[in-house]
Amino acid sequence: MDLLPEGFKEQVDPQKLADPATHDTVMAEPYADRLVLCLAGPTGAGKTRTACALAARYFIERSAEFTFITWSEFVSQSTENARDSSESRLVARLADTPVLIIDDLGSGRATPVTGSVLTALIKRRIGEGRVTILTSQYSMTDALAGIAKKQDAAAIPRRIHEKGAVYVFERRREGRAP
Ligand SMILES: Nc1ncnc2c1ncn2[C@@H]1O[C@H](COP(=O)(O)OP(=O)(O)OP(=O)(O)O)[C@@H](O)[C@H]1O
Ligand SMILES: [Mg+2]
Repeated sequence: MDLLPEGFKEQVDPQKLADPATHDTVMAEPYADRLVLCLAGPTGAGKTRTACALAARYFIERSAEFTFITWSEFVSQSTENARDSSESRLVARLADTPVLIIDDLGSGRATPVTGSVLTALIKRRIGEGRVTILTSQYSMTDALAGIAKKQDAAAIPRRIHEKGAVYVFERRREGRAP
């Protein structure tokens, strides 16, 4: 059975972008009020590198510690926790870190419970004013809409739209200066 949620299936098409993001343009953006930063785009584009650079900046400028978790770790931990019927344990563990990176959303198969864990986590972090940085090869709004519970499917992308920003990278050209 294919457990990959709807919404993760569409790859981002950078050809269609009017204004693709780069490491430098993301770093130059105002970020003070942004609680969710979504970095989308093809493999090798620099999403993880930029996510880590953002986290480093929060650490340097605000002494904010960060936690890094890959999507596959997130999926397996959300599933483990569901098995002993306390999916909120993962949320509790990741809710309080000042800056959270979830890397490569949608890169592996997710279970149905993962969507509700992610939704609860993002809701809580936005509510408490903490910064979450997500990277994905998939269109982020679609990805979140696809895994969120029905009643949250519109609310979460809307909250991200209000409280955050989505940046779509294009494939990195060879030979470009760092
Ligand atoms: N602008 C850049 N200049 C120099 N090196 C870069 C630049 N952007 C990315 N890199 C390097 O390219 C490699 C791929 O970058 P990164 O891992 O951030 O990509 P990604 O978008 O996260 O890819 P994936 O989707 O496969 O995880 C890394 O070694 C990174 O350091
Ligand atoms: Mg990456």
